[in-house]
Amino acid sequence: MKVGILSSGGDAPGINATIRGIGKTAINNYGMQVIGIQNGFSGLLYKDVVELNDPSLSGILNLGGTILGTAREKVFRKMITSPDEKDREQIKAAYHELGLDCLVCIGGNGTQRTTWMLSELGLNAIGVPKTIDNDVYGTDITFGFDTAVNIATEAIDRLHSTASSHRRVMVIELMGHHAGWITLYAGMASGADIILLPELGYNMKVVIDKIQKRMEMGKAYSIVAVAEGVEVPTKERPATYFAREIETQTGFETRETVLGYIQRGGSPSPYDRILGTLLGGHAARLIHEKKFGRMVARLGNTISDVPLSEVAGKLRLVTPESNLVQQGKRMGISFGVW
Ligand code: F6P
Repeated sequence: MKVGILSSGGDAPGINATIRGIGKTAINNYGMQVIGIQNGFSGLLYKDVVELNDPSLSGILNLGGTILGTAREKVFRKMITSPDEKDREQIKAAYHELGLDCLVCIGGNGTQRTTWMLSELGLNAIGVPKTIDNDVYGTDITFGFDTAVNIATEAIDRLHSTASSHRRVMVIELMGHHAGWITLYAGMASGADIILLPELGYNMKVVIDKIQKRMEMGKAYSIVAVAEGVEVPTKERPATYFAREIETQTGFETRETVLGYIQRGGSPSPYDRILGTLLGGHAARLIHEKKFGRMVARLGNTISDVPLSEVAGKLRLVTPESNLVQQGKRMGISFGVW
């Protein structure tokens, strides 16, 4: 069988471990031929491919980013949903001209939706969930998340000492445009005092009261972790908005930090390497068993798979009932609503 692998959407640490997991299992265990499709779905259209073999898949396990390149899939998405049948015929023709028996698409929610649409067109496709945001529906965790949480936790740990020395409020903005998982986990792991998530919203009075109460209790500084997706009433970044409002309303000196792409770059954590390796191996097995139209997933302690039709178009979000939110609440950490 001939297998194509592509990565699409924002990169995440662990993509290369996954490509290696799929490729080496497909080649060494199942005797398949594997090609890499460059720069996301556009590489499929332009047949921009490289041959992947055991030697070319070596030495990439600990590499950040993706050796195949990646891209947001706007043009491809337009073609696949286009009213003009010719666009979809072009996609199918590219797949067949490459001689593919299956296409493995590594990506986040948008990619899973596109992969499902490809399988609806009659192409053999398998999805592998990837994002630092951890918001892919149908899997308990995505690779990239653990690495991002490690980086964000270290960043907040470092803010504690400077905040304490200057008796300041520190606001740190972390990635997560729809889901606050990184902010929740890194905030809880690093002892943030206020954790603001897009899913929960906030009441500014609750935030201000919490900071004032901490100061009254003799706590010289406060750390506020806010997800980039928290909606604010101005055009500013959430970190800028909250830092200004907090300083104005409390009179305490406040500083902001936006951690940004540091969270997505660099070498994957051991956990993410293992997760990518296992998910990749499972994807190769699904191809061998000709179980297409599925997304590989981590469910509890097992590596499994779910139908793409069940995950397409859905998001996995934090809920107020999430264990970690409830535990934070019990410990007196503010989530902006309590
Ligand atoms: O990978 C997810 C994510 O990091 C989001 O948290 C963020 O909003 C987005 O990607 C930004 O990525 P880009 O600038 O590459 O579109």
